Amino acid sequence: MEIVIVPDAAAGGELIASAIAELVTRKPDALVGVATGSTPLPIYTALTAKVAGGLDVSRVRICQLDEYVGLPAGHPESYRSTVIRQVVEPLGLSEASFIGPDGTAEDVAAEAIHYDRALAEAGGVDFQILGIGTDGHIGFNEPCSSLASRTRIKTLTEQTRVDNARFFEDDIEQVPHHVITQGIGTILEARHVVLLATGANKADAVAATVEGPLSALVPASALQLHPHATVVVDEAAAAGLKLADYFRATYAAKPSWQSI
Ligand code: F6R
Repeated sequence: MEIVIVPDAAAGGELIASAIAELVTRKPDALVGVATGSTPLPIYTALTAKVAGGLDVSRVRICQLDEYVGLPAGHPESYRSTVIRQVVEPLGLSEASFIGPDGTAEDVAAEAIHYDRALAEAGGVDFQILGIGTDGHIGFNEPCSSLASRTRIKTLTEQTRVDNARFFEDDIEQVPHHVITQGIGTILEARHVVLLATGANKADAVAATVEGPLSALVPASALQLHPHATVVVDEAAAAGLKLADYFRATYAAKPSWQSI
């Protein structure tokens, strides 16, 4: 894993957007996996600025990481609506270039299998953006998810529902209990996985992910198995890292031609 400590969330967003821009320049129809939540917003802001500055993303395809089960189609907090609002529209993409699981499907299990297949048929994810839950989840693979899991239905922990109540008028009753999420095994198939973590409330999860043992109790620790995983953290989220100085020195000494 490469660990990059940046001064703040905006710097993390810029670094990751630059890596996506490089990818898209090399592979114009790249499949980029997007996460929702607060953390990736600086990435989308920086990427939107690059598009305004001339970056051509017209052939880029995007795919969703997860989706709430049971929110009505078009609900503003469904992840489909969120991605359309935060990524598809600002980047000027078409909805046709965007795939995600249908959280309103009657047969959720079949929908999950169908989505895993759709990702494979699309040629696999080139660049997967991830956030991290305070409990160490990636996607919505909550603690004790199988490290080999495929896309499937999961039940959110109480902690995650509390964390996400802010998107539902601070009313936990409105936060769905179930989600369809790419499995950890699915996420690990992406060619490059980039996790952004910002803020002091992520420091424990980041330390466990990066320096703790590989454990289903900390789903993000599965990234230790990935041949090209990058963890970008701001100073606050890096606060629990024992090897922070080593990570800083390693990144500072990186050849300028080599991106994350
Ligand atoms: C969202 C997702 C989640 C979030 C995580 C952190 O699509 O998969 O894993 O990345 O819950 O959320 P924020 O960024 O809001 O703290």
